[in-house]
Amino acid sequence: MTDLVLSEMREHVAILTLNRPDKLNALSYALIDRLLSLLDLIETDDGVRAVILTGAGERAFSAGADIREFSSSVAEGTDAALRDFVMRGQRLTARLEAFRKPVIAAVNGLAIGGGCEITEAVPLAIASDRALFAKPEIKLAMPPTFGGTQRLPRLAGRKRALELLLTGDAFSPARALELGLVNKVVPHARLMPAALDLARRITAHSQAAVASILTAVTRGLNQSIAEGLLVEAEQFARMAPTAHLREGLDAWMERRQPAYDGHGQTGRGTRRQTGRARANPL
Ligand code: COA
Repeated sequence: MTDLVLSEMREHVAILTLNRPDKLNALSYALIDRLLSLLDLIETDDGVRAVILTGAGERAFSAGADIREFSSSVAEGTDAALRDFVMRGQRLTARLEAFRKPVIAAVNGLAIGGGCEITEAVPLAIASDRALFAKPEIKLAMPPTFGGTQRLPRLAGRKRALELLLTGDAFSPARALELGLVNKVVPHARLMPAALDLARRITAHSQAAVASILTAVTRGLNQSIAEGLLVEAEQFARMAPTAHLREGLDAWMERRQPAYDGHGQTGRGTRRQTGRARANPL
């Protein structure tokens, strides 16, 4: 049986590829379940420090939820559709959004419906200049269901999001960049190198500190500033007793590059003299 999500390690980066190219990588229930179970494995694997998510084939990142499949759930009744379709998709986007390792969407082509919602949910995204985005659910007489009515307005603002949600019009990678949906747009051939480069620039840092920043930003964004500041303080308090923070501070004071190992477990950090140059803060 074809693996619905391909998984490959490149150094400390897991590359996950949605793999139904003949269906434009539509998100079937089985594909979503497979992706969720891979994320479970990755989360507890200290050898993986970042994830890149992309789509197989020439055309699509993902053309969204599998319409034939969820159409059957709708025919079964509202409860079945909520349980099997809506909750499953929301579980996926919420998991990607709150993942404690950086997830970078490498949007290689069509990112439609659920494909666009995945891009909205992940913390970082790079688009190929061949990508094309759309929120076409209105054309099926339904609202988006994998978080698309909630995250895009927070990213792009209410009126800009509503125009896309209510018209279903496709939009370019350049527009996605303007809306804050992607971090940058690169020539198609540069997509994976750019995603890997971004991953490496993050994974060079303390994995525990990366997780604490991801958590503080994602949880804080959905709360008041006062509650968000508490989350920030809580994340600092988690880092304070770790060997990583000690190493980061010591390395700065000793004018050397920090060397992290043990991924932030208290008392396990080691020191390494790597020269006299203080890590350049810029
Ligand atoms: N669900 C299920 N199958 C899908 C799909 C989806 N969201 N998107 C594409 N596919 C399948 C098609 O059924 C087709 O398979 P088939 O040949 O076995 O029928 C294959 O992928 C290729 O798509 P096709 O529609 O033939 O390509 P196209 O170039 O004519 O059109 C799109 C491309 C993206 C415009 C069109 O596929 C489309 O409208 N897809 C649905 C997008 C959508 O509304 N997503 C949100 C769902 S909530």
